[in-house]
Amino acid sequence: MTNPALLLDQYRILDEPYYRPLRDEVELFGAAYASRMPVMLKGPTGCGKTRFIEYMAWRLGRPLITVACHEDMTAADLVGRWLLDAEGTVWSDGPLTTAVRLGAICYLDEIVEARQDTTVVIHPLTDDRRVLPLEKRGELIHAHSDFQLVISYNPGYQSAIKDLKESTKQRFAALDFDYPDRSAEVEVVSREAGIEPEIADLLVKIASHSRNLKGQGLDEGASTRMLVNAGRLIGYGISLDKACETTIVVPLTDDADTRNTLRDVISACA
Ligand SMILES: Nc1ncnc2c1ncn2[C@@H]1O[C@H](COP(=O)(O)OP(=O)(O)OP(=O)(O)O)[C@@H](O)[C@H]1O
Ligand SMILES: [Mg+2]
Repeated sequence: MTNPALLLDQYRILDEPYYRPLRDEVELFGAAYASRMPVMLKGPTGCGKTRFIEYMAWRLGRPLITVACHEDMTAADLVGRWLLDAEGTVWSDGPLTTAVRLGAICYLDEIVEARQDTTVVIHPLTDDRRVLPLEKRGELIHAHSDFQLVISYNPGYQSAIKDLKESTKQRFAALDFDYPDRSAEVEVVSREAGIEPEIADLLVKIASHSRNLKGQGLDEGASTRMLVNAGRLIGYGISLDKACETTIVVPLTDDADTRNTLRDVISACA
């Protein structure tokens, strides 16, 4: 059997991740962790949710076990399964079970993608019981006192059938994330991409115009992640136009008119 301390060590975040706080989310999350309250991070793609949870795990000194949820995910992928080996059948804990036993923060990324029967396994863990039943193994695990469950959720990306059940939603405290305000986003982009603030400022201007096109040809405007990508290409000597074309215009849309509108925005800002 693997040594639990060694197992957890691989999930520890050793160096402080760079996270630029946007409001009072650090304080709020800290209070939620102190009472081991389950937390939901809501917000559009590329706005800093993953970076935030990495930072919080580092700050709280807890290992972080992240699971990318997908539509073929079953409860066994989360809690574990019996496997066949030379000795016979052996039980293998899933990532959620490891976090529950050993006291990590478990981050279920894009939980709505998982089938609803999967999300139900988190119910007894996210109310006062804090237990995880492993039915296939006949074991009931009481969560380690340091365990916390965190999920992410992109509002608006899913259909009604894919939305979280009310009984799941209501177990979580929720923090709303959005793109940083202008000066914070300039700071983030310039630091993450290693470019001058003046150039980051141009990229942020372009993003803000693109976000106004949401619903008018675009499902979503350029995210902070896209701006960091653009900035990184610029850092390698690519022109602003070309960098924006490659990291913003082409990824965002296939529609020729919308692409032209975005190009106009870029040349107007540059
Ligand atoms: N407040 C912030 N502080 C530092 N970096 C940030 C911040 N917000 C965004 N970033 C930058 O944006 C990038 C994308 O953020 P992140 O991966 O956390 O997005 P996300 O919200 O988890 O997106 P998704 O929903 O697609 O997983 C980060 O890698 C980081 O470079
Ligand atoms: Mg993420």
